[in-house]
Amino acid sequence: MGGEKFGFFTWVSSISCLICLCHGYVPVNNYLINCGSPTNVTVTGRVFISDKLTSNLLKSPSEILAASNRNSVSDIYQTARIFTGISKYTFSVARGRHWIRLHFSPFQYLNFEMGSAKFSVSSQTHVLLSDFTTKSRVMKEYSLNVATDILELTFTPSGNSFAFVNALEVVSVPDTLLNGDPSLAGRPGRFQGLSLQALETVHRVNMGGPRVTPSNDTLSRIWEPDSEFLVEKNLVKSVSKIASVDYVPGFATEDTAPRTVYGTCTEMNSADNPSSNFNVTWEFDVDTGFQYFLRFHFCDIVSKALNQLYFNLYVDSMMGVENLDLSSYLSNTLAGAYVMDYVTGSAKSTNRIRVSIGPSTVHSDYPTAILNGLEIMKMNNSKGQLSTGTFLPAGVSSSTTKKNVGMIVGATVGSLLALVVFGGFFLLFKKRGRGQDGDSKTWIPLCTSGTASDSNGTTITSIASNSSYRIPLVAVKEATNSFDQSREIGVGGFGKVYRGELQDGTKVAVKRGNPKSQQGLAEFRTEIEMLSQFRHRHLVSLIGYCDENNEMILIYEYMEKGTLRSHLYGSGLPSLSWKERLEICIGAARGLHYLHTGDSKPVIHRDVKSANILLDASLMAKVADFGLSKTGPEIDQTHVSTAVKGSFGYLDPEYFRRQQLTEKSDVYSFGVVMFEVLCARPVIDPTLPREMVNLAEWSMKWQKKGQLEHVIDESLRGKIRPDSLRKFGETGEKCLADYGVDRPSMGDVLWNLEYALQLQETVVDGDTEEDNSTNMIGELPLRFSDYNNQGDTSVNVGVDREGRFEDEESSVDDLSGVSMSKVFSQLVKSEGR
Ligand SMILES: *[C@@H]1O[C@H](CO)[C@@H](O)[C@H](O)[C@H]1NC(C)=O
Ligand SMILES: *[C@@H]1O[C@H](CO)[C@@H](O)[C@H](O)[C@H]1NC(C)=O
Ligand SMILES: *[C@@H]1O[C@H](CO)[C@@H](O)[C@H](O)[C@H]1NC(C)=O
Ligand SMILES: *[C@@H]1O[C@H](CO)[C@@H](O)[C@H](O)[C@H]1NC(C)=O
Repeated sequence: MGGEKFGFFTWVSSISCLICLCHGYVPVNNYLINCGSPTNVTVTGRVFISDKLTSNLLKSPSEILAASNRNSVSDIYQTARIFTGISKYTFSVARGRHWIRLHFSPFQYLNFEMGSAKFSVSSQTHVLLSDFTTKSRVMKEYSLNVATDILELTFTPSGNSFAFVNALEVVSVPDTLLNGDPSLAGRPGRFQGLSLQALETVHRVNMGGPRVTPSNDTLSRIWEPDSEFLVEKNLVKSVSKIASVDYVPGFATEDTAPRTVYGTCTEMNSADNPSSNFNVTWEFDVDTGFQYFLRFHFCDIVSKALNQLYFNLYVDSMMGVENLDLSSYLSNTLAGAYVMDYVTGSAKSTNRIRVSIGPSTVHSDYPTAILNGLEIMKMNNSKGQLSTGTFLPAGVSSSTTKKNVGMIVGATVGSLLALVVFGGFFLLFKKRGRGQDGDSKTWIPLCTSGTASDSNGTTITSIASNSSYRIPLVAVKEATNSFDQSREIGVGGFGKVYRGELQDGTKVAVKRGNPKSQQGLAEFRTEIEMLSQFRHRHLVSLIGYCDENNEMILIYEYMEKGTLRSHLYGSGLPSLSWKERLEICIGAARGLHYLHTGDSKPVIHRDVKSANILLDASLMAKVADFGLSKTGPEIDQTHVSTAVKGSFGYLDPEYFRRQQLTEKSDVYSFGVVMFEVLCARPVIDPTLPREMVNLAEWSMKWQKKGQLEHVIDESLRGKIRPDSLRKFGETGEKCLADYGVDRPSMGDVLWNLEYALQLQETVVDGDTEEDNSTNMIGELPLRFSDYNNQGDTSVNVGVDREGRFEDEESSVDDLSGVSMSKVFSQLVKSEGR
């Protein structure tokens, strides 16, 4: 820790002396740069130095200091540096580990729409960001061991785009923070060579406690609360006893994690039931293809005496530690801060890490388990990358690049999002004021909110904040060859859908609202608001919209394989395997789970159906069509009571009866989709005998008899393991419960679907697996509050409506891929909206 041994005192270090008054650790190097700014800005006691004073660190072909006109609030996000060519910061550093924090908050400056910039950032040894693009404020944190006296950070624009950064930090990390060889999760042995690893912070979580901001952390870190990662929020309680935290010499220090982290925890809520036996699980989204470093923070703030707490820790369902007894590790200190490090045994092949704690069987008189904090860091791959774009560090030969590209594009669809955004910030755009057929072309940037007035009075002012998504009509026309008929891929109530291609080759789906009618305006707005706010790999992403000339045009990422529905029946496409179907259900469930629990307010989709689940080239599922979404549950009552919206056959009977909308309405619809996936037939088929018309009713009848295999898709016969089918059927049945309260949450559904997939996959493992699975099923009643059977009255959607709506609906949904439901638009129209 002692900075004295390095002779590296610059003006930067003198800043840190100010910090040392309040924090114990004094970083040797402490470069905090307020890029693009003529002034210093102090953020929670740390001074970000004006770009003017640091320009000697930078070599760049351009000298563009951008200032936003957002307002006068002085913070590091109001200004940025823009790099139009390869640009390099060179920092003199003491050898050792450093934080590199990159702050991005795009805005528009002159012709530079930063939201569409695409670039890579690398050090001499590692790629930190590759083909990176962001439309919203984001901070990226890395920890890099610098083995030379110089750290170079290079910004490389992709193609003819540009790069930007609002602020950057290069700050020494105490030598003691990361050392030793972490255990390998699920494998014997230890991971060696941690010191060579570049790490990227993916999640840093304060279990059972508040968000911790840089001012409350000696190393200026941010810790997020854990509730959004908990799979079952009702199985836990939060405990806070900050005063009792004891930093035992030789173990964790305040630099390892602050008191607020050790002094709060999430505890298994055994509700004083001595026979409680269940796990508490968190799930974290991660990128596939990388190993991860996991640091667990423990502090027994729940026991009254030593040796009372024994529990198990699992990483990705594998035993991490059995019968963990913190007090004995900590030489008999009760509330001592303790750290355990793990590295995942191999590169992740799934996009999440599951962490569970559960009571130990050894001391069952006091069943509980705790976790205080967790850090998950991505480790660089063998090519030195932390981001699998096309960009490689200088040391790696370009012959490996090509191999890499294909693999990566297949592997990380998340980064497709990045590729999808325009390669450049310019669009070839004909000069305004001239006719659309005028010859003269000129480069001008995407419209900004300031130019909204030339949209012929169309007022979408409420979404002006999303102006970075606005795309000029000319560019849309170019992409679709002026809405050429041959490009039509579907027709919905909202309008037509076209296949298109942007200037940079990105394939898109362009949904054009009927310009002559205003009926879809509300849906148009909702869709833009929802999609620009919610980004998730299992939600179809919005690339942009156009509201010029009263147009209502939405531009989405193109989903190669169309709707889930088209792969189930009616289109002659080859049938999907059971595994593929499960994975699609899991993906869609993930998207909905995110909507229900994500960010701030839960969002109810309201139109979950197989035609709104789209598949990309690798059959990854994404939920689409948010035109009807509402933030819930206290939604606009007048709308809900005037018309029930949703697609018949999928509609929650409770919503239908009581016109009360909750997330559980989506769960119901999802249950119908599950049976549709299993049986591969339309949810309403009026041509069938009466008792078979409604799929939900029909399949539930067989599910309740325990003979679901009688109605499953012919092509799945004999290919589904009975356990997997049983789990799937039970889960679907619960989704279709008559009352919302009896239905599981999307989180539960997700968990069970994943379990059904495991049951399908683990054929070869033999008896032990079988035993486990029986146990797990036995465990179920704990996971769902009310596991009762539903009355026969369930799922009784008005028959008289079926025929009336069905014809229209099927014509809408077949091909479009991104259709607005005609049914809804009709309902909307009849309301005169
Ligand atoms: C900004 O901070 C630096 C380093 O402390 C100092 O030398 C400089 O005078 C400050 N500049 C302004 C404009 O306050
Ligand atoms: C953070 O620190 C401030 C003082 O710097 C203190 O008032 C506040 O309670 C702390 N918050 C937490 C969550 O520890
Ligand atoms: C907890 O999770 C682990 C790993 O998934 C599993 O082996 C164990 O049986 C679970 N325990 C309980 C009580 O569910
Ligand atoms: C990370 O990069 C370093 C080179 O800096 C390399 O030695 C190491 O093997 C890489 N890690 C992995 C897990 O491939």
